[in-house]
Amino acid sequence: MKVERETKVWTMREGDGPAAEKAIAEAAGLLRQGGTVAFPTETVYGLGADAANTAAVERVFAAKGRPSDNPLIVHIADRSQLEGIVLPYGEIARKLMERFWPGPLTLVLPARPGAVSPRVTAGLDTVAVRMPAHPIALRLIAAAGCPVAAPSANRSGRPSPTRAEHVRGDLAGRIDGLVDGGAADVGLESTVVEIDDGRIRVLRPGGVTPEALRQAAGCEVELDESLRAPLDPQFGEAGAASGAPRSPGMKYAHYAPRGEMVLVAGEPEAVRRYIEAQEAAARLAGCRTGVLTYDERAAGFRADAVLTLGSEARLEAAAHRLYDALREFDRLGVERIWAEACAPCGIGLALMNRLAKAAGNRLVRV
Ligand code: TXA
Ligand code: MG
Repeated sequence: MKVERETKVWTMREGDGPAAEKAIAEAAGLLRQGGTVAFPTETVYGLGADAANTAAVERVFAAKGRPSDNPLIVHIADRSQLEGIVLPYGEIARKLMERFWPGPLTLVLPARPGAVSPRVTAGLDTVAVRMPAHPIALRLIAAAGCPVAAPSANRSGRPSPTRAEHVRGDLAGRIDGLVDGGAADVGLESTVVEIDDGRIRVLRPGGVTPEALRQAAGCEVELDESLRAPLDPQFGEAGAASGAPRSPGMKYAHYAPRGEMVLVAGEPEAVRRYIEAQEAAARLAGCRTGVLTYDERAAGFRADAVLTLGSEARLEAAAHRLYDALREFDRLGVERIWAEACAPCGIGLALMNRLAKAAGNRLVRV
């Protein structure tokens, strides 16, 4: 399939005024005509297409180089759009929507047959839906007048884009449009959950934490088996998860910088010593090295690139910076990277999940 084309870019900072109005109308028009348009959400940038239009959805897969068995999230602007694409759902789902929509929570719900393209659901009988909490995303979807299928707007396998420049770097010439609305807030993709037998199962951790889900729905919350390995104190070898992940996308290499990354967990001083020794040996051997750490310890490292995610005490901010940092290592030509693990609590669960993926599950506990 031919993917080279001209990518139209609209820049919007305030989001108001006639220029923004016209840009939204143009971008929405492209979506309605079967085009592919990247747009900001509060989590990361998405690459959108009309969810009912199979040819349009195929363009999204082609632009990203995404495996076709990995289903897409459908984005809606209001609850009336939801009823058109899903079958009746239960009380737990309703409570979660009321508490977290618009926001970074994706619900896997029973799909209404024929409502979205089978390419969106990858042939499953469920559909993943979310209502993003970003004014530009909501206006664009409302103006398009159709549910919008949108995976993260990166080339498959690369870190998700938290800024328009990231989208441009990965996809310029491969998509029809890009709405540049500045940096994304959360910086990590939405939490994906399914509801099974009165329980919530987290398929992908994100901005909405298990604790927050439990509070809102008043039921048990469990982590999909594939997520448990990095949390297991025994981990050390390739995250030995048993069973296939229930969220098809979680089985692929993801979020990876070009350099080889290792995630190091343990008592901070032991972690620092381990990284220092490994890094020094690699640097002596002629490698360009990188360390991903926190402000508290950044001064202690001598690598070619020492990047910090901010203070260890503020993991929300760390999540916000992660993908930018991974892309920065690429920009600096770093070949080997050591990243410090964080406590897998609250947003730290999502951060550890993405770090482990970016490290291709190379996890060391010292
Ligand atoms: O924050 C986000 O969710 C961003 C923004 C753009 O909204 N989108 C995003 O989409 O991260 P994507 O395609 O990169 O990730 C979608 C995830 C994948 O892990 C996929 O396997 C899972 O959702 N998923 C989609 N449909 C599913 C389904 N029916 N059942 C289980 N998992 C599903
Ligand atoms: Mg993605």
